[in-house]
Amino acid sequence: MTFKNQIDTSRLPQHVAVIMDGNGRWAGRRGRERIFGHHQGVRAVRETVEAAAELGVRYLTLYAFSTENWNRPDEEVSALMDLMVESLNDETQTLIDKNISLKVIGDLSRLSENVRNRLFETMRITSAGSRMKLIVALSYSSRWEISEACRRIAVEVKEGRLSAGDINEETVNAYLETSDLPDPELMIRTSGEKRISNFLLWQLAYAELYFTEKLWPDFGKEDFYKAVADFQKRERRYGRTSEQIADNR
Ligand code: IPE
Ligand code: IPE
Ligand code: MG
Repeated sequence: MTFKNQIDTSRLPQHVAVIMDGNGRWAGRRGRERIFGHHQGVRAVRETVEAAAELGVRYLTLYAFSTENWNRPDEEVSALMDLMVESLNDETQTLIDKNISLKVIGDLSRLSENVRNRLFETMRITSAGSRMKLIVALSYSSRWEISEACRRIAVEVKEGRLSAGDINEETVNAYLETSDLPDPELMIRTSGEKRISNFLLWQLAYAELYFTEKLWPDFGKEDFYKAVADFQKRERRYGRTSEQIADNR
């Protein structure tokens, strides 16, 4: 039995966001260094990307490194950055073959030139990929993103290109890193933690949240299908009543 059979592909979430958590605990339970868990997590990334693309999900956002993660020990941060470059080197051809384009969101100015160049290069050479967009949130936090948007909107107002009275939700949206993406309908977090950790606070306003105890290195295609099947059982009311939803069906 696979959860894939339970999924109605005509009602897929267009955009799924994932907080990939639990690598450190996964390694700790095996008496290994945290970085070993991060390395094992790459397999889960590959499976999740494949599962999403094969199902027909259009946008997949993976939270890879938060603004707060810069506060981790230096050796863990640099090992994560090395792993990022290594993964880009290894997986770029697969992205091209699978017709997937890469986008990165976050404060890239904090990354080393080497990591930044590698990211830009991969984004450039995968840009024609039209099957799915893979968005990696790197050096990302939602409060950083929203503050940046506010700052840029303020400049537009100051320079007379935008009137303060015209600012609405669409305006804010247009200044976010995700301005070209629909909001995620489903957000998955692994490792049993039930929090958002500064991820897509604006964009997740009406997302269905799915939490699993699985640690990220153990997460696979079946787990992704299970989350999507669970999502499809939910009633999304957007403030309306159940009866109103039934009447519109
Ligand atoms: C997620 O796993 C990966 C990153 C945040 C980079 P963690 O490293 O947070 O693993 P735990 O939560 O300590 O188990
Ligand atoms: C969130 O995980 C960030 C990523 C998965 C990249 P953390 O493990 O850093 O989150 P907290 O600190 O436990 O909330
Ligand atoms: Mg964690």
